[in-house]
Amino acid sequence: MRAAQFRSWVLLTLSALQTASAQTKYEVQTPPLDTDWTYEVGTDPWPEHPRPQLRRDAWQSLNGVWTWSAAKSNDDLNNPPGAGPLDHEVLVPSCIESGLSGLQVLDVNHMWYETNFEVPKSWDSQKVLLHFEAVDYRSTVIINGAKKDTHRGGYSRITLDVTEDVRLNGTNRMLVFVHDPTDTEVIPVGKQTVRPSHIFYRPCSGIWQQVWLEAVPADHIERLDVASNADGEVTVNIVSSSGDGADVQVTVVDQNGNEVATHSGSADKQFTFNVDGVSPWWPDSPTLYNLTVTLGDDEVASYTGFRTISKSEVEGVTRHLLNGEFVFQFGTLDQGYWPDGLHTPPNLEAMVYDLKVLKDFGFNMVRKHIKVEPDLFYEACDRLGLMVIQDMPSTRPDAQPNAEEHAEFRRQLEIMVNEHKSYPSIVSWTIYNEGWGQLDDGQPEEELTKVVRELDPTRLINSVSGWDDHGFGDYHDNHNYAHPQCGTPFYSRPKTPYDPERIGIAGEYGGIGHNVSIEHLWNVKEAIDTIPETYEINEDLESYNYRAMVLFRDLREQTERFACSGAVYTQTTDVEGEVNGLLTYDRRVMRPDLKQWQDDIQSLYEAAASRGGRPVSKGRKY
Ligand SMILES: *[C@@H]1O[C@H](CO)[C@@H](O)[C@H](O)[C@H]1NC(C)=O
Ligand SMILES: *[C@@H]1O[C@H](CO)[C@@H](O)[C@H](O)[C@H]1NC(C)=O
Ligand SMILES: *[C@@H]1O[C@H](CO)[C@@H](O)[C@H](O)[C@H]1NC(C)=O
Repeated sequence: MRAAQFRSWVLLTLSALQTASAQTKYEVQTPPLDTDWTYEVGTDPWPEHPRPQLRRDAWQSLNGVWTWSAAKSNDDLNNPPGAGPLDHEVLVPSCIESGLSGLQVLDVNHMWYETNFEVPKSWDSQKVLLHFEAVDYRSTVIINGAKKDTHRGGYSRITLDVTEDVRLNGTNRMLVFVHDPTDTEVIPVGKQTVRPSHIFYRPCSGIWQQVWLEAVPADHIERLDVASNADGEVTVNIVSSSGDGADVQVTVVDQNGNEVATHSGSADKQFTFNVDGVSPWWPDSPTLYNLTVTLGDDEVASYTGFRTISKSEVEGVTRHLLNGEFVFQFGTLDQGYWPDGLHTPPNLEAMVYDLKVLKDFGFNMVRKHIKVEPDLFYEACDRLGLMVIQDMPSTRPDAQPNAEEHAEFRRQLEIMVNEHKSYPSIVSWTIYNEGWGQLDDGQPEEELTKVVRELDPTRLINSVSGWDDHGFGDYHDNHNYAHPQCGTPFYSRPKTPYDPERIGIAGEYGGIGHNVSIEHLWNVKEAIDTIPETYEINEDLESYNYRAMVLFRDLREQTERFACSGAVYTQTTDVEGEVNGLLTYDRRVMRPDLKQWQDDIQSLYEAAASRGGRPVSKGRKY
């Protein structure tokens, strides 16, 4: 064979091989709207360590390009695909309905994922854990042919001990079977629907958060819960893999790198110790302390913030307190949707961009609305100083869960609380939103409020955010558009009664709309057709800003005169057919007059200060 012949033989063989593997290669599919980050994601997405409060050095990301194929039904799980890659390349993590996935398919409920990976040889004396941060909704992992238990729930972690299933001297093949019923079952879904309409959006299916491997010693820390209060008391609960109460040591390091406390305790039994002279965590000075925790050969890095959340009367009004002071909570309804990634932000920078915008306005809180974010979101809130109201993702609004579905909702609620309760920024949990999936008679609120209180006595509970309030939890929360109705007796409604015994907030208000040109809109006809359902649409930004100012005046007066302790403005960004964000859905247009809003927001904290709230000093931004 001559050189030229040989070259064409090689080329032919190569292309034959490519055809044999027959996949559609990974490429971003043009979404109905993109962002500045869409085409920067590449094929190495989310390289950051995914678990900021339980970090070990020995870990490896499995994110990247995997292969994927649609399946037909749950029966396919008994019939895994044979050797070789699947039909299409796909980006992990992503929602298969998103442009970033490379698929952008809207009608697939069952699917297979496939990838190959190697495990470092240096891990040979360790246990190997495989983690999925979130897969929507049911998922079953098969490693080298070994089928693991099926996981339920689209917002929670999966950790599998795969030590016995992986080899360190070659390639490991992993298959993941996913079933996402979205609308066809009564399960926690938040705003997802296969038939989007105005305030309900395109769903997310599949592996939408990070996948990674970790090496741990045989005896290791499985779970680390830390709650630190403003007096310097640290409460630690460590669950060990052996469950035998092994000795553990916790070291606390301040912002300057100085060791300020070290304490020995036992795993599998809660213990407390004190740190002297701590700087508390506030939204305007979000001081964090690093932690090192050891158990035998296992060492993990973590962090905490010292703050206390409580409820008490201040000048005769029931208030939420942060570190003993009434701090007016002012934030946005933050849904965490992206036109290119849907539930998965394109990258860390994009995710944190939204939060930095909020800080710049002077918001001190976000209401994470019926969605659970990657852990790095909560770490960013801890670092930036944004209090988080964390909602449980609701089940669909048009169905009442039966007993079994209710039990599953409760199970997933407990998981959400347990997986997030060490983030200092989270100040309260919301169980139900606007009656969605809530039974009529108040029974589930009473039960679920008790369940959450027992799991986490360090935070407040908003049992029902809007409507169908039967008197449980710490808040009475009135939703109204556009004008706020916040802690005011005369806006009492049969389903949302004024209740001076509990803290008055406007868990939703605002939603002032303003249409934009097509290049900033989610370019889907059904969505554009629902734009008129936006609560109010202003012709221009001058009237938009005027309307916002009027609403700020209302809120300020309700704070000065009545029992308003916080409010949630709808919303951070546009989402699909809703054009009422501070930012458009692509994050390229900011509607508010920043200076006016900054002054108005500051005036809310001043109004609260006039009622015994935390004093606002010049230059201090919450
Ligand atoms: C890897 O190790 C296993 C178990 O020792 C052995 O059966 C297998 O042949 C080895 N594979 C390779 C590729 O060396
Ligand atoms: C705290 O830990 C983080 C993450 O490991 C590290 O980047 C930072 O430098 C540490 N801070 C101090 C003061 O030690
Ligand atoms: C909003 O703007 C889009 C794009 O210009 C247009 O198609 C749509 O009709 C507008 N909707 C409303 C309610 O103004």
